[in-house]
Formats: sequence, C-alpha cells, structure tokens
Amino acid sequence: MTALKTASGAQHAALLGVGSYRPSRVVPNAEIVEAIDSSDEWIQQRSGIKQRRWATPEETVRMMAVEASRKALDAAGIDARQIECVIVATVSHMLQTPAVATLVAHDLGTDNAAAFDISAACAGFCHGVGMAADLVRGGSAGHVLVIGVERLSDLTDVGDRGTAFIFADGAGAAVVGPSETPGIGPVVWGSQGEHFDHIRQREDWRDVIASEKPRMPHLVMLGNPVFRWAAYAMAKVGQEALDRAGITADQLDVFVPHQANMRIIDALARSMKLPATVKIARDIAEMGNTSAASVPLALDRMIAEGQARSGETALLIAFGAGLAYAAQVVTVP
Ligand SMILES: CC(C)(COP(=O)(O)OP(=O)(O)OC[C@H]1O[C@@H](n2cnc3c(N)ncnc32)[C@H](O)[C@@H]1OP(=O)(O)O)[C@@H](O)C(=O)NCCC(=O)NCCS
Repeated sequence: MTALKTASGAQHAALLGVGSYRPSRVVPNAEIVEAIDSSDEWIQQRSGIKQRRWATPEETVRMMAVEASRKALDAAGIDARQIECVIVATVSHMLQTPAVATLVAHDLGTDNAAAFDISAACAGFCHGVGMAADLVRGGSAGHVLVIGVERLSDLTDVGDRGTAFIFADGAGAAVVGPSETPGIGPVVWGSQGEHFDHIRQREDWRDVIASEKPRMPHLVMLGNPVFRWAAYAMAKVGQEALDRAGITADQLDVFVPHQANMRIIDALARSMKLPATVKIARDIAEMGNTSAASVPLALDRMIAEGQARSGETALLIAFGAGLAYAAQVVTVP
C-alpha cells in the first residue's frame, strides 16, 4: 500500500474577529399583535422579546451575510483573499442549490475559497465554529469565515400565535484562524432526530407543489416541549463544554446562549450555577430569535458595548430544530 501525505495546520485556532448586520426595519410587538390574539405584555412576559428586526426586500440573505462578513474581516485585520473556506449556516436561503456561501465568497473577493452551506438550524453557527477550528488545525484551510444568517420572516406565518412573535432576521460572522494559544475549546454537539417534528417546516416542497392552494412551508413549533428541552438538557451540554475546555464556571467571563427565549437564558444560567460576575447576552429583547445568526449577533453586540473584552472566556451554546445543538468555550477576540 502506498502511504499518502497528510496535511497538518496551526497548532491552535481562535476567533480573530466578529461582525454582524442588523436589518433596518424594527418591528415592535404592537405590529405583531395586529395579526394574532396576543398582547405586548404577554409576549414580553413569556419570551422577553420587545421588538425584532425583519429584513426589507433589499436585505437579502446574501447581502446581510456579506455585510456581517466585511465587518468580521475588518475586526480581524484579515484580507478577504486570505480566506480559504466560507461556511454559511442558514435555513432561509431559498434556493436548494447552489449554496449561498459561493455567492458570499464571490462578493467578498476571496480567491477561490471553498464555500458551502450547513443546515443545523439555530445551532448552525456553533457547528460552523467547531468545524472551522478543526479545518484550521487540520491544515485544510488557513483562515475560515463562519457566517450565521437568516431571513426567518420569509418562513414565519404571521397568523400563527405560537411562532409569529419569535422569529426574526439578521446576520453574524466570525473569522477563525491560527493562534499561538488555544482560543476555541472542544465542541460538544449532537442531535435528537426522534424530535424532528418539534420545530420544522410544515411541508416539504413536493407537498407544497402538489397542494391545491400552494403556500410557503412556514416554520411550525411545539413551543412547550422545545422550551423544556432547551431549559434543562442544554445546561448539561454547556457544562460539558466547560469541562472539555478545562475550566469551571468561576473562570467564565461571558455567556452567549442562543437567543431563543429570555426565560430559557435565565433557566440555563441558573441550572449551570453561573456566578453573578458572568456577563450574559440578552440581545433577544431587541432582536427576537434569529436562529443561526443569534449567537454571533449577540457576541458582536457585547464586544461593541464593552461587555465582552478581548481575552475573556466565553461559553457559546446554540440549539434548535433537529433537535440539534452545539457548544464550545472561546476566547473573545
Ligand atoms: C413559545 C413560548 C413562548 C410559549 O410559551 P409557553 O409558556 O410555553 O406557552 P404555552 O404554549 O404553554 O401556552 C400558555 C398559554 O398561553 C396561550 N398563548 C399561546 N400563545 C400565545 C400568544 N402568542 N399570545 C397570548 N397567549 C398565548 C396559550 O393559549 C395558553 O393559554 P391557556 O393557559 O389558557 O391554555 C414558549 O413555549 C417558548 O419559548 N418555547 C421555546 C421556543 C424556542 O425556543 N424556539 C426556538 C428554539 S430554537
């Protein structure tokens, strides 16, 4: 048997820069409740959401991903031509193929970067960061751009009182590259396909076409079981990510959970017994649930507002349809 050469990359990988894009149109709860039997008070009390942003027609998945990426590249001080792989986590690029990542790579002016989309719903960005760290360390790519982007307003039934107030739009991106010290801890990830129906598109495209009254296959959700799963099972996943990174909750500075529901964020912090000194992302109040974009959007805001400082230790954790989840500890760039 002929032995093959193998690749090897940097000893360590880290987040080098983060950027985000917030769509221009602010949608307050007052607008949501025009179409459903609900109230601003109920929505705030049960979810913590005060408003969200829904993209205008010009704010496409491609456009938002490119804008967030440009800011991440600037923050990292990296030229787009140094990017060798672009990973876009999204469920709202409305073309089955090709991947929107190829357009994003092209718009940014990367030089023939590998580019592909991943479908891990709300957990997509943390899946991407885990993969990017391995690609950099394994020698498959020098620098990787990881983007979480969604236009969930396209997939939201504004008349469904179980979901209309939750889902929203936006983009966040991070540059992952070589580092002298470990900046991305081991990923803890998994899925529970037995709960495939907990959050899903109502029909697949063939059912839509066959239907007498074709309609967008909107997202549907069993809110209560999802809530219970996220609030309890995800605390264990977060703890495992801390353990695998070799740190305790006392050594954590920042907690950036998926922005699904303020009560889930609070329950996770309580179950994980995070000290009061840990700064917690609460972007959901202004942004709603932006699925794959929520973690980088929230992290970028904390960096911009001085809540997350360079060199601090942050736990990222995201979870959603699948039911898929992923978590890792990172060093704030
Ligand atoms: C959606 C969610 C906020 C609903 O909150 P909940 O406390 O579970 O609400 P329930 O579905 O149990 O309903 C409780 C009551 O509120 C009512 N209700 C449901 N939706 C309502 C709405 N939009 N406005 C007002 N009342 C509503 C129900 O009819 C029910 O009334 P009843 O007690 O008289 O029967 C919550 O389940 C949730 O956040 N789930 C997880 C969502 C999530 O994280 N999704 C994404 C993961 S990526």
